[in-house]
Amino acid sequence: MQCIDRIADLRRAVKAARQDGRKIGLVPTMGALHRGHAALIAQAAEDSCFTVVSIFINPAQFGPNEDLDLYPRTLERDLQVAAEAGADLVFAPVAAEIYPSGFNTWVEVGGSLTDCLCGAFRPGHFRGVATIVLKLFNMTDPDQAYFGEKDYQQLQVVRRFVQDLNLPLKIMPVPTVREADGLAMSSRNKYLSPEERSVAPWLYKALRAAAEAATSGEGDIHAIRCHALEIIASQPALQLEYLEIVDSESLQPLHELCPGAVMLAAARLGNTRLIDNIKLI
Ligand code: PAF
Repeated sequence: MQCIDRIADLRRAVKAARQDGRKIGLVPTMGALHRGHAALIAQAAEDSCFTVVSIFINPAQFGPNEDLDLYPRTLERDLQVAAEAGADLVFAPVAAEIYPSGFNTWVEVGGSLTDCLCGAFRPGHFRGVATIVLKLFNMTDPDQAYFGEKDYQQLQVVRRFVQDLNLPLKIMPVPTVREADGLAMSSRNKYLSPEERSVAPWLYKALRAAAEAATSGEGDIHAIRCHALEIIASQPALQLEYLEIVDSESLQPLHELCPGAVMLAAARLGNTRLIDNIKLI
């Protein structure tokens, strides 16, 4: 597995792989790789792609009071995880190459997908995500790009601009990977104290209870939501930001349970922000 930090070298490596008849698969990450990332990389490799993993902590998607400075930086270990999962190349650029001085062009996906849910609590976040992801697509020119379903709103935002801008690539969603107790894998789980770590799985417990109620016949969307809210309220350390039942594509709130209903939630636990989601039916 090669590791490079220059855009020109990335383009050269991708061109050579393409000349060898390989399909290109991109797994964009911010590093601190865990089993969730390994599943994305393994899926790209299994799909016979020349698998490129980008590692770049993108300052543009962090708000002024967020955790940019604290975000875990573990490049050596990341290279090991990427290689073991089947990556062919890691692209770990420095910020100056990605955002040259005078940088002033942004990708803004329209309001209804980005103002709600995480977007309401993290203004500008999805603009930062869409901009870096489009830049990575332009640098790598992948046939397929892999995103985890844990970041569900991000996945829909990326799908939207890929369609809107006629980008010739396929977005490949990969199911959330969880710890044994249900907690969704996240690089930010490293921030949790042992006490917080024991509370963290309750977010998913609440989502699962809602999904179980929906599949066992509870049709009242309000009752399903209240059930999940009660479970979260039983853990005072979990400070809920939002818990909504929305349409899986438009992310607009649903008033009746219907196929494609997804419950999305975010909560603060100490200094850590947790997000998770579940399909209801
Ligand atoms: O999901 C992430 O880690 C990031 O938002 C992404 C897609 C790598 C863009 O920086």
